[in-house]
Amino acid sequence: MSFDLIVKGGVLPDGTRADIGITGEKIAAMEPSLSAEAGKIVDAENCLVSPPFVDPHFHMDATLSYGIPRINASGTLLEGISLWGELKPLLTHEAVKERALRYCDWAVSMGLLAIRTHVDTCDERLLAVEALLDVKKTVAPYLDLQLVAFPQDGFYRDPTARQNTIRALEKGVDVVGGIPHFERTMDDGRRSVTELCEIAAQRGLLVDLHCDETDDPLSRHIEQLAYEAQRLGMQGRVAGSHLTSMHSMDNYYVSKLLPMIAEAEVSAIPNPLINVMLQGRHDTFPKRRGLTRVKEMLALGIEVGWGQDCVLDPWYSLGTADMLDVAFMGLHVAQMSHPAEMAKCFEMVTGANARIMHLDHLGLTVGKRASLVVLDAGNPVEALRLRAERVAVVSRGKVVAERPRRDTILDLPGRPKTVNRRHQR
Ligand code: FE2
Repeated sequence: MSFDLIVKGGVLPDGTRADIGITGEKIAAMEPSLSAEAGKIVDAENCLVSPPFVDPHFHMDATLSYGIPRINASGTLLEGISLWGELKPLLTHEAVKERALRYCDWAVSMGLLAIRTHVDTCDERLLAVEALLDVKKTVAPYLDLQLVAFPQDGFYRDPTARQNTIRALEKGVDVVGGIPHFERTMDDGRRSVTELCEIAAQRGLLVDLHCDETDDPLSRHIEQLAYEAQRLGMQGRVAGSHLTSMHSMDNYYVSKLLPMIAEAEVSAIPNPLINVMLQGRHDTFPKRRGLTRVKEMLALGIEVGWGQDCVLDPWYSLGTADMLDVAFMGLHVAQMSHPAEMAKCFEMVTGANARIMHLDHLGLTVGKRASLVVLDAGNPVEALRLRAERVAVVSRGKVVAERPRRDTILDLPGRPKTVNRRHQR
């Protein structure tokens, strides 16, 4: 027996040791020790071998545009939206595509091999839609890109958003998006949730709405989203992104809401870097964190994944395409400090995010697509603590990125020369 590639000596997230034999684009064998021939061997000795990172919430049409035409001075969501409105007329197909491809390069190098990106449909030209459809095709051999039709200026508030969102879906955009809290009234927001879910149900598409991204405890579009998922039989096909208002909601109301979300099988996508940066900006002290109720949702069996949302754009001035940064911030803000909770945070940026995006071909079992990441860490918690180096990234059976493990040689006066490893393994 021989393989095209063997990833040798690694430790899986559950702690078991496995060599992974790869033939073509598939995982062909997983055993504690494979002695077969291989075209190439990746040395993963004592390294964590994980399914790839997945980001279920991003804006690839805006990424890497930080400072064009100016920065967001107030740091609020609303200034970010108006700044994006200033940038939109300046966009060209080539510039959007070039920035997106540069971001995809960063992503692949960090083991991030699947991304759900919202794309603004409030544009007669559908310029960003065309550019990202082009990018999706270009990166398909090594990165799964899922596009969400996102009426940034409001499905009803923008007079042409409805027709342009439908045009985008007809061009091949995968998922139905929306922004009910940005509509003119709470009632318009509620109606937009209903119509967007109906559009998705008619077309057999998934739904992922920016939902209640506000500090307003009375912003309750998630209630309508759960209701529509239930009414239209879309259980397991609907996601609510952000849900930051839930941070500020009345506790009694939340005790009624969460079981409805669980029953409708609506998943939740908090974006901790952005939520903690944008929310609470109108507060004095104490300042709210603005993160949704992650532990409480997990306790009820609701699927929750961490998203990145923004890198170097009108809303966020930092970011590196590293989902370990996202999970690291998430576990702090959600206070998920127990070892089992930290391990869950790692699972959220790999397994849970893939489930939310319906990427059934990902995962480390025989027969799945051979896409994985080798991390210079002994286990998922250590990977988070170190934001561990990506020693190798394999996509569809091909090694697409490699890096040396990183140690520091210390040569201190009066002390023996040593190698400083930050690992505990
Ligand atoms: Fe977003």
